[in-house]
Amino acid sequence: MSSLLGRLAVGLLLVAGQLTTAYDLDPDSPDSVKSVSKDMAADLVSFYNGNQPGNTPGLLPDPYFWWEAGAMMGTLIDYWYYTGDDTYNDLTSQALLFQVGETNDYMPRNQTRTEGNDDQGFWGLSVMSAAEYKFPDPPADQPQWLALAQAVFNTQAARWDTEHCAGGLRWQIFTWNNGYDYKNSISQACFFALGARLALYTGNQSYADWADKTWDWMIATKLINTKNWAVYDGAGIETNCTVLTPYQFSYNVGGMILGAAAMYNMTESQTWKTRLDNLLEGSKVFFTGPNNNIMSEVACESVNTCNVDEQSFKAYLTRWLTMMIKWAPHTYDVIHPYLRASSVAAAKQCKGGANKRMCGLIWYDGKYDNTTGVGQQMAALEITMSNLILNSSSPVTADTGGTSVGDPGGGGDDIGRNQPKGPDYKPITGADKFGAAVLTLLAIATVVVAMGFIFLDETSPQGPVAQFKGFWSSASAAITTLAAGGGFAAAAAAGRRRSNKEKGIRINEKSILNNGESESSSKNPFSEPVMVTPDSTRHSVVSQRRLSNMPIGWPHNPSVRNSVVVAESSAAASSEDQRQR
Ligand SMILES: *[C@@H]1O[C@H](CO)[C@@H](O)[C@H](O)[C@H]1NC(C)=O
Ligand SMILES: *[C@@H]1O[C@H](CO)[C@@H](O)[C@H](O)[C@H]1NC(C)=O
Ligand SMILES: *[C@@H]1O[C@H](CO)[C@@H](O)[C@H](O)[C@H]1NC(C)=O
Repeated sequence: MSSLLGRLAVGLLLVAGQLTTAYDLDPDSPDSVKSVSKDMAADLVSFYNGNQPGNTPGLLPDPYFWWEAGAMMGTLIDYWYYTGDDTYNDLTSQALLFQVGETNDYMPRNQTRTEGNDDQGFWGLSVMSAAEYKFPDPPADQPQWLALAQAVFNTQAARWDTEHCAGGLRWQIFTWNNGYDYKNSISQACFFALGARLALYTGNQSYADWADKTWDWMIATKLINTKNWAVYDGAGIETNCTVLTPYQFSYNVGGMILGAAAMYNMTESQTWKTRLDNLLEGSKVFFTGPNNNIMSEVACESVNTCNVDEQSFKAYLTRWLTMMIKWAPHTYDVIHPYLRASSVAAAKQCKGGANKRMCGLIWYDGKYDNTTGVGQQMAALEITMSNLILNSSSPVTADTGGTSVGDPGGGGDDIGRNQPKGPDYKPITGADKFGAAVLTLLAIATVVVAMGFIFLDETSPQGPVAQFKGFWSSASAAITTLAAGGGFAAAAAAGRRRSNKEKGIRINEKSILNNGESESSSKNPFSEPVMVTPDSTRHSVVSQRRLSNMPIGWPHNPSVRNSVVVAESSAAASSEDQRQR
């Protein structure tokens, strides 16, 4: 009897827990939006301790990478811009200025060994926002926001690589990093958006020319698919970028939208309007729920495999869709209902942590998903603040009130550098290379094992045994492709085969594997179309690239710790998930 009562009490408590609504957001009331934003911002900043004595400004604690701190400072700039609350301005300026590095271009010595163009790009985009929003300028003896953004841009323009794939930025900056052979969309998107915004801000046509060139390259490689306006993850140089890694992540299309909106504002051309409108249409793949209007990182949320980086991507899609409205006001009517519905859903699930208001990752479920983190908190804050866009001032340019001082030649000292600075730099030794080879073999094994579970499709008319046999022949085809130089991208693409129930754009796999051009169906283990959005394989692919990102035996770098663990646990999680299906 007493135990029954006890269980009843626990049950009631659980129900009460689910009924507690920490936030009652009214998206149409600026006061309500500001009040919710204030709490969400405080909870975001609670993850950061770089401003405390003895800590390093601009670094988040483990497991967050360096770039995410740069992205988070962008969110805090947004927080000040939308709400007028300057509580975090000093913390933000301190972090942004501490990480500039010796050459004032976000190549700080502690990070350059593992730094990618996208990592540097996120810091560059944050200081660009500071210039556009008139975030308080640093003291005159410190680097200035616009000059920092220009320096990031200049170092990246100098890395444009025409030797492979007729252009594009490599993912990694330095030669030995795994990923130096990969051209990823987010690196291009950051560079494109930064160029477009610098063109708009300064009126200098050179930046616009680079934005044009980057756009054309994304189209030529088909990383932007002009049929469904999907933006795929990237492509390896070993195939001259003819084999695309077909996963869609929200920040890729978000970054392209941001740049296209700035180009449209500057040129007022029909060409850029059409491009922007098309991308905006393509971005709808990231909205789900009963009315398809709640933002979701569809590639990993549905399978519970979003890694620490990916947990933050919705923050950037939100930030950039909202900025788009200022530069292309006609898009407001299209996107506002989506942002509004997403903000209500996001606020509703923030019931976690000791304070019962920490935000989880998944918004469309109507309940808290028991995760917390910088990414979750940033995304929820950004979507909440997006409701204030019509109440906010327009971004400025040099001609319309901008005060940030530029330096068109910034970053020059870093141009052409392909080794990190610093006395402790050592080339990778033979023993390290052996270790890297072992890791690569482990990585291949992980992909193959993960594929085994991915291939088990509960909607298949075949039983598991028949499917398993099919898997082996497909797997050997994929491994052949891999050995023939197709790399992980091909293995991952071959590993894609999901039930048709899931949301996403279906495209013919042949076009994924062969860039829409070649006939080589012999490489293609399937004739049926594949889903390109929801996936867990990307973790095996991209985390593996991250995994050997840091040369083995190098001094411990807190911001790249854990990458091995992340790779293993995502592979395990995806296997687990597939088993449960
Ligand atoms: C680099 O790392 C050292 C040692 O941890 C630290 O003292 C210094 O502040 C760091 N610099 C930056 C820019 O992060
Ligand atoms: C790589 O692709 C580019 C663009 O399609 C082409 O111009 C170039 O000739 C290709 N290079 C090789 C080695 O196939
Ligand atoms: C325009 O930008 C280019 C590229 O960064 C730079 O070389 C040039 O000096 C700039 N021109 C002016 C007038 O600022």
